[in-house]
Amino acid sequence: MFPLKDLIKLIVMTVEVFARIKSRRPEKQRRSSPPARVRAVSPLPGKRNNTSCPKPGLVRRFFKVLLSILQIFIVYQVVLRLLRRYFKFPAPAFIGKLLDSDIRRRTQPADLLVERSGARAGMRILEIGCGSGAYTTSFARTAGESGRVYALDIQPGMLKQIQYKLQQPENQDIQTLQIVAGSAYELPFEKASLDLIYMVTVFQEIPDRARALKEVRRVLKRHGILAISELLPDPDYPWVTTTVRMGKEGGLHLEDVEGNLWNYTVRFKKP
Ligand SMILES: C[S@@+](CC[C@H](N)C(=O)[O-])C[C@H]1O[C@@H](n2cnc3c(N)ncnc32)[C@H](O)[C@@H]1O
Repeated sequence: MFPLKDLIKLIVMTVEVFARIKSRRPEKQRRSSPPARVRAVSPLPGKRNNTSCPKPGLVRRFFKVLLSILQIFIVYQVVLRLLRRYFKFPAPAFIGKLLDSDIRRRTQPADLLVERSGARAGMRILEIGCGSGAYTTSFARTAGESGRVYALDIQPGMLKQIQYKLQQPENQDIQTLQIVAGSAYELPFEKASLDLIYMVTVFQEIPDRARALKEVRRVLKRHGILAISELLPDPDYPWVTTTVRMGKEGGLHLEDVEGNLWNYTVRFKKP
């Protein structure tokens, strides 16, 4: 989870920035702009008065909009994080369309996640928490005809959406994808049977992550990969250090961290 300490610091900083802008404004206005009466009179008849330059106003408005966006983002994060701290529940199925939308794929592109995960043709791959299938079809195409992808989710409402997606004409080329209803706590796979397991904005949603990692270790082959991807607007987003620590505590070896603060993938290997 996003540490509460950092969240409070962020809020305090934002409030301080606002307070500074507000306290400076009257002083600045006094210094930079003449009184309204003076500004209204043009020195030359028929010519526009250039003293009312629109630039400072525009810049101020730009920063105002930026700060408003930041405020909305912080309020959204605080409310949802507090809610999710006390009430554990999987992301509701009605957000399936948002998860599998163009805007989502632009912020967290599928080919990037495939590349970072280390997925290759011929692999037996499991996606835990596939949701509406935003990334599943890309992984299935990468695994190809010689591989196999299992898309597992705990919610029937999400599985219905991925099923519908697979029935669409543009996905008829995918023949090696299997939808599985199940939980991360009891993966319906043989011991050491999978090459790669990946989760996209799922890991922190699982209340008992140590238990899930134990299952991941059981079903992965030796040197099999676990790839965990996270995206910042997700209310469960953790710092990369948290993900790395949890994976290591779960008995996996850290192989690589790719991406940035907003959108990263951590790749582990089963020793
Ligand atoms: C935020 S959604 C992400 C869906 C998809 N990975 C994506 O990025 O679009 C999280 C998904 O994890 C699933 N999930 C949560 N807890 C789970 C568990 N214990 N076992 C399996 N799936 C789970 C939820 O049902 C939900 O579909």
